[in-house]
Amino acid sequence: MSCILLGVSASAAIHKACDLASKLVQEGHEVRTILTPRAAELVSPQLFQALSGQPAVTSEWGDQRQGGMDHIELARWAELYIVAPATANTIGCLASGLAGDLLGTVSLALPPGAPRLLCPAMNPSMYAHPAVQRNIASLVEDGWQLMEPESGRLACEDEGDGRLPEVSQIQERIRELLG
Ligand SMILES: Cc1cc2nc3c(=O)[nH]c(=O)nc-3n(C[C@H](O)[C@H](O)[C@H](O)COP(=O)(O)O)c2cc1C
Repeated sequence: MSCILLGVSASAAIHKACDLASKLVQEGHEVRTILTPRAAELVSPQLFQALSGQPAVTSEWGDQRQGGMDHIELARWAELYIVAPATANTIGCLASGLAGDLLGTVSLALPPGAPRLLCPAMNPSMYAHPAVQRNIASLVEDGWQLMEPESGRLACEDEGDGRLPEVSQIQERIRELLG
């Protein structure tokens, strides 16, 4: 059993993050979820909370505050941090070290060397964009593990690289990372 912190950003692939949270709990892991504010417009944090039996939040401010400094507590708690799906925007924020939301703040607060997995999901033109590729390369250089998106048909009806891999494949990668 491991403590897995799931970061979720506002992608059409967010339904797979719900499934992932549920499957990881079924495997015996503890799963807490941080959604970006936009992700919380696509799917209510309440669903992640129901699937995981653990808090699912977008912020460490106001009513959502769990303790004194949630970004530090969550970063210390996590044995694995996984951002799935990771949007182009969130990838850009992480690559720039921005801490404007809880997901970004926790990413900076993780202890050096703590395992972290990035699972991009976006339209193929977005994924191929040099800015996105630069940001991903910079995150890999910073120590992020990368789960490459699959090629196929996306929710936007375009075909190409950018589809979030199947949940079973993400689970497999998580098993490898947890050793
Ligand atoms: C229905 C919908 C689906 C979206 N899917 C994606 C996606 O798969 N990947 C992506 O990079 N952006 C996607 N976007 C755009 C992002 O939601 C937008 O860039 C947003 O600002 C990202 O915010 P976040 O990274 O803070 O979650 C989508 C937007 C909408 C409305």
